[in-house]
Order: sequence, then structure tokens, then C-alpha cells
Amino acid sequence: MFELKHIDKAFRDREDEIHVARDLSWSLGAGDNAALMGESGAGKTTLMNIIAGLDTVDAGEVLVGGEPIAGLSQAELTTFRRNRLGLIFQKFHLVPALSAWDNAALQARLAGAFDKGFAAHLFDMLGIEQLAHRRPEQLSGGQQQRVAIARALMHKPQLVLADEPTGNLDEATSDTVIELLVSAASEADATLVVVTHSAAIASHLSHTWRLASGALTRAA
Ligand SMILES: Nc1ncnc2c1ncn2[C@@H]1O[C@H](COP(=O)(O)OP(=O)(O)O)[C@@H](O)[C@H]1O
Ligand SMILES: [Mg+2]
Repeated sequence: MFELKHIDKAFRDREDEIHVARDLSWSLGAGDNAALMGESGAGKTTLMNIIAGLDTVDAGEVLVGGEPIAGLSQAELTTFRRNRLGLIFQKFHLVPALSAWDNAALQARLAGAFDKGFAAHLFDMLGIEQLAHRRPEQLSGGQQQRVAIARALMHKPQLVLADEPTGNLDEATSDTVIELLVSAASEADATLVVVTHSAAIASHLSHTWRLASGALTRAA
């Protein structure tokens, strides 16, 4: 589903240069899932941004769905993200004035891919069907994160990138939320990457990769 080919990426300031990727290659196919681990500052978020077309590389090629994203215009990139990508962040970024249901449906409606039956199925699966009418402030952190997961999956994306999605949740809630995310992604045959600091979270994914000094190695 995505392929990074020999990418280089560095941030430079006056004193030093931080290499996030050095001749880094990585690919995951449809339905694959993986955990991405690494020290804080290793470049995990940058790597997610590169795959999402939100950041560029200094060298190498990024292919998503077989297509080089360097060839896409800004408008095409926006369409690509809206239609094919599900993004989940540590912060939930829910719209305060909207119900859980409308928050979760937002991207799918924009993408023209809203399917009420599938939306209801996701809410059921995530255990938030009773909370659909509530606004974010009326939900716990774990419940809000489930809404954010429903939102990321509702337009049936081909690729789901979750950047420390359980960073704000307690351990028991984290485990449940990750299990739900993995099974929902697998049911949709979506490719899933979960960035995490937690070995317990990583153990829910098929493989674990570790990013350090610009290199990615398979850890499990
Ligand atoms: N836009 C930017 N400009 C300069 N340096 C950046 C920028 N984004 C990230 N960095 C630096 O690149 C490194 C990797 O950051 P990041 O990808 O956020 O790491 P991680 O998600 O693994 O904690 C860090 O040292 C960070 O300070
Ligand atoms: Mg990060």
C-alpha cells in the first residue's frame, strides 16, 4: 500500500543536522499492520507525515497505492488524504460543537463516502453506539479516542496512520482501543501503522519496527 524507497530526510538548523531517515526503505501491503517505535525525537512523526504527503523528502521516492506522491499537486494530495487516508493523533481533534456521530462522519461526508450502515457498525464495534448524540465534552478520553478512530475509518481508507493514539489513555483503555483499531482496520483490509512507546501496545500489531539514527529495523 505504501513504499518508501531509499529516502533521506534531515532537519538542519544553525548548529546541527538531525537525520530522521538515511537511505531508508520500508513498505507495507494492503491489510498489513505494524507498530513503529523509537526514542522521542527519532523521527516517527516525520515519517508518518512523509507517508501522508504532509512533509517532503530530501531524496528517494514515496509511493502510496503504487503512485509516487511527489507527482501530485497540492489539490490532488488533499483529495488523496481525504479519500484514502485515515489519520489518528494523540490529541483527538474533535469539533466541540458537533455530536460524536457528526464528528465521526465529517471526513466521510466530505469524501462523499458516508455510509450510514457502516457508520453504525463502526459505532457498535467501538462500543460507542449509545454515545452518538453526545458532544466531545460529554465523553471521557477513551470515548473521545474511539470517536476519533471511528472518524479515521468511516470513509474506508486504504491506509490508517495512528501517531501515539493512546498517549492520553490509561493502560486498560489503551489495550481495548488498540484491539478495536486493529480489528476494524483488518476488517476493512486497510494498512495500519501505529506509532507507540509502549511494548504492550506494539504487541497487538503483527510486526514492530524501530526507528533510530535514521534507520529502520525490524524488532519483532
Ligand atoms: N519542522 C521541523 N523543523 C526542524 N526540526 C524538526 C521539524 N520537525 C521535526 N524536527 C526535528 O526532527 C526530529 C524528529 O522529530 P519527530 O519526527 O517529531 O520525532 P518523534 O515523533 O519520533 O518524536 C526532532 O529532533 C525534531 O526536533
Ligand atoms: Mg512524534
